Amino acid sequence: MVAIRVHDLNYAYSDGTVALEHVSFEIARGESVALIGPNGAGKSTLLLHLNGILHSKKSRGAVEILGEPIDPRKVHKMPKKIGIVFQDPDDMLFMPLLGDDVAFGPINLGVANDEVKRRVKDSLERVGLAGYEERVSHHLSGGEKKRAAIATVLSMDPEIIAMDEPTANLDPKSRAELIEILKGLKSEGKTLIIITHDVNAIPELADRVIVLHKTIVADGTTREVFADTEMLVAAGLDVPTIMQFFEVLQAFGYPCDVLPLSIEDAVRNLTRTIENGDGHVHLHIHKHTHSGVDSARSKYQHHSG
Ligand SMILES: Nc1ncnc2c1ncn2[C@@H]1O[C@H](COP(=O)(O)OP(=O)(O)OP(=O)(O)O)[C@@H](O)[C@H]1O
Ligand SMILES: [Mg+2]
Repeated sequence: MVAIRVHDLNYAYSDGTVALEHVSFEIARGESVALIGPNGAGKSTLLLHLNGILHSKKSRGAVEILGEPIDPRKVHKMPKKIGIVFQDPDDMLFMPLLGDDVAFGPINLGVANDEVKRRVKDSLERVGLAGYEERVSHHLSGGEKKRAAIATVLSMDPEIIAMDEPTANLDPKSRAELIEILKGLKSEGKTLIIITHDVNAIPELADRVIVLHKTIVADGTTREVFADTEMLVAAGLDVPTIMQFFEVLQAFGYPCDVLPLSIEDAVRNLTRTIENGDGHVHLHIHKHTHSGVDSARSKYQHHSG
């Protein structure tokens, strides 16, 4: 079944800025998709169309969630189907106490009191903010706010979860914890859309990557999209650092047909290569090595202007 269907979506802001042009894609239920694109590419704008927030006379095209077109009169019911974590957590925290912010969604969906309490506790625990019910939302730190914003969506238990930059502003431990939360949601069968500039996190989180630059410039498996260096660099984007490093290793003679996407992939790759080489891996320097290294590195260099 199709979780999200967007067909020929176009949107311009009232000052005339064109944010989306002919955007079409489908996401199946249970899929986990990373949405990437440079600053100003229209990613957040697209997200706001998925629950009808930006539905207006200025939007042209179709958006269907779980098989139904978005009905502007029923936008208040959307959070049950799709929960959206905005880029700026301040747009999601507006009650005095965090517990009230996390309870707000389920109360509005008519969830019974006891169940609301249970969900608030559970959602705060999941994002590592156990016991934060009585904390003042707008006093939380940047990273705490980001996690709090995610809790306000988890408490509604939506079928589809879309997150705008979930790992931004998080310290390494919180980032790792958040990646675990997202993996947990993925294995529960939730449909996930993750907007991120954190390319190193993508291989762990998403099976598919959509590249948006006003319109969709690439859509494929994570491996396919990361293999298209030219397209990525043209869009001002990167591949995971480990892929870049293995391209450098290739210049030193490391035999590797398929570049690893993650550290786990790299460990498997090295293990296989060393086992096939009788316990050794042979690297060498010859006359083309350094030019090879330079060209591997320059592929991903971004130039201003
Ligand atoms: N309220 C608005 N009024 C006018 N233009 C806007 C408005 N909001 C966004 N834009 C413009 O629309 C374009 C798309 O913005 P959007 O926020 O969707 O980009 P993004 O891909 O989310 O970027 P980032 O990675 O920086 O978050 C940009 O050119 C932006 O300046
Ligand atoms: Mg954005």
